[in-house]
Amino acid sequence: MVRRNISAAVLSGVLAVSALAGCGGGGDDAGSGNSGGDDKITLGFSQVGAESGWRTANTKSIQESAASAGIDLKFSDAQGKQENQISAIRNFITQKVDVIAFSPVVTSGWDAVLKEAKDAGIPVILTDRAVDSQDTSLYETFIGSDFVEEGKKAGDWLVKEYEGKTDKVNVVELQGTTGSAPAIDRQKGFAEAIKANPNITIVKSQTGDFKRADGKTVMETFLQSTPDIDVLYAHNDDMGLGAIEAIEAAGKKPGTDIKIITVDAVKDGMTALADGKINFIVECSPLLGPQLMDLAKKAAAGETLEKRVLTEETTFTQEQAKTELPNRKY
Ligand code: AHR
Repeated sequence: MVRRNISAAVLSGVLAVSALAGCGGGGDDAGSGNSGGDDKITLGFSQVGAESGWRTANTKSIQESAASAGIDLKFSDAQGKQENQISAIRNFITQKVDVIAFSPVVTSGWDAVLKEAKDAGIPVILTDRAVDSQDTSLYETFIGSDFVEEGKKAGDWLVKEYEGKTDKVNVVELQGTTGSAPAIDRQKGFAEAIKANPNITIVKSQTGDFKRADGKTVMETFLQSTPDIDVLYAHNDDMGLGAIEAIEAAGKKPGTDIKIITVDAVKDGMTALADGKINFIVECSPLLGPQLMDLAKKAAAGETLEKRVLTEETTFTQEQAKTELPNRKY
């Protein structure tokens, strides 16, 4: 482990002592009770789970970047449960890791555990998703996308698509995990953008928990209860891909009978876009690993970090997807 704000001489002494204490391994080891015993920075990372292609790519990016940055990563998979994340963070505190990072499954309910980390002198980096804590001193920085902007981009595309038309446009929405930052913000940004055309209305909105299977099931119920669906807005590719299966099973043509907008731009989503089954994708990059490792090193060294590190991202039409697909990294 590496302590913050201490001189190299003191540090080498500390490292010599901690080397004698031995070090922990990788994998899902939030509870192994050892912070590492060499001069490597130890980063405790609590991941949401493995709900989507985006999440799998994000985990891979973090694990690979930690290995190449020489950071000892203690990775814990919360399986979509906040209580698992809280106990993983508490284990990281007990292990005296140098830095804690996590992608909060939901926005609220973090103040107590974040205060425990702060009192223990361990810097915390929010990765991918925000928390709603009023006290922003509870974390060093937040690295990730602007989800409101993503929702706006999706809504702006739809407004443009129906520009100059007077027909009513019935939209069904597949929301992400209830209470999560991307679900709240993508809904907000989209709703704001579509105000520009009063003919566009969200007629049904329900969570599909960012999962392909749930996207399919919820879309089946939408199709049964609402015969005249014009557009599907899904908060991620996976739910959109599940919905495509339901639409095809109902004898309709995705991308034509029902226009589809999704968020993420993972390979499977981009393939469906290039095939004409999705109409527009807003990119959300999961490749946060390299920047996270850089920030973790700075935080461990006691540097003050920029409070918000924004991820750069774009959008894709069907034509753009055909060009981009061969280069897609995730
Ligand atoms: O927080 C990012 C979101 O979480 C992605 O858009 C979604 O696919 C994932 O599960």
